[in-house]
Amino acid sequence: MQFIDLGAQRAKIHDRLKAAVERVLEGGRYILGPEVAEFEQKLATYAGVEHVVACANGTDALLLPLYASGIGPGDAVFVPSFTFAATAEVVALAKAEPVFVDVDASTYNIDIASLEAAIAMVKKEGRLKPKAIIPVDLFGLAADYDAIMAIAKRENLLVIEDAAQSMGGSADGTMCGAFGHVAGTSFYPAKPLGCYGDGGAILTDSDELAEAVRTLRSHGRQGTGDVAVRNGITGRLDTLQAAVLLSKLTVFEDELEKRDAVARRYDAAFAGKVGIQKRPAGYFSANAIYTITVRDRDGLKAELDARGIGNAFFYRLALHQHPAFAEAPKRPLPVSEKLADTVISLPMHPDLTDDEVERVVAAVLDAVG
Ligand SMILES: Cc1ncc(COP(=O)(O)O)c(C=O)c1O
Repeated sequence: MQFIDLGAQRAKIHDRLKAAVERVLEGGRYILGPEVAEFEQKLATYAGVEHVVACANGTDALLLPLYASGIGPGDAVFVPSFTFAATAEVVALAKAEPVFVDVDASTYNIDIASLEAAIAMVKKEGRLKPKAIIPVDLFGLAADYDAIMAIAKRENLLVIEDAAQSMGGSADGTMCGAFGHVAGTSFYPAKPLGCYGDGGAILTDSDELAEAVRTLRSHGRQGTGDVAVRNGITGRLDTLQAAVLLSKLTVFEDELEKRDAVARRYDAAFAGKVGIQKRPAGYFSANAIYTITVRDRDGLKAELDARGIGNAFFYRLALHQHPAFAEAPKRPLPVSEKLADTVISLPMHPDLTDDEVERVVAAVLDAVG
């Protein structure tokens, strides 16, 4: 049983996909063709934001708002330590410094008390200037934006929502991608809304930020396109990928419901037996990845492997444990480290059959006794 099965989804939308791709091939506008603008508009409506700027990948979608905001040397950007490397990598690429923050043991998302402590530490040391927070909606579950935005307002910090895993998720009626001042998402194939290559998007209500990142994603060029007004990058979403995403949007809601049903079945079976990611009331997760914590995860992995059930460790190291981030300011981050030692992720995709879900449940329960 595969960890993620993209083939089943492709079979479902095969004809629509083929026609969409053919249209792009025949139209010949491979860069910023009409499908890109159409997708941007559809995603903006879906997420409830003013602007979507489609870009080359989820990493650029986080990096460009940092560039656009002038965040750089001498600036501190607060990021959770239990996430994918890109969340902190972009801070280093902008030549600012990531300051790692611990996560909450039940939601796995940025811990508010640890965030407050990190900000206080940076202010007390005085070496760096607090500038931004990049909260992550880990595994598809929104972070605690009420608390984060209150802190950001008080401390005058930019909030960049890392919605790479959470497109389709929501909290109290607000869609992921609409939190913070600006958000970045990823369309990496395994994401809930994924394309067939790399892709990403920046979402914001800010006219200025949208204009700035639109310029930056295309070599800093504006208007007729022959004058570079600032240093940018080749950061556009390909027209072909926009066409794929438009096709995938047609089944996205249905897939989110199916993911949710799988997650609820897992939750019900595992509650009280293994650690599960807690969804606060009013939160809907996009369920990008379903991750549990167990005492003996190597034992569980061996059992899953023996039964041919796909599994993975998201994430085996907290970010501050990676050599790439060895120079970041040192703070105790015990929850991130404990999660990194105990997590194991199970098959999660919309086309899992009931029988497959029950096989996963049985394997986990047998292994943990
Ligand atoms: C939390 C998080 N942030 C950022 C990214 C970066 O996205 P991309 O791989 O599209 O650059 C990812 C991708 O896996 C991610 O999971």
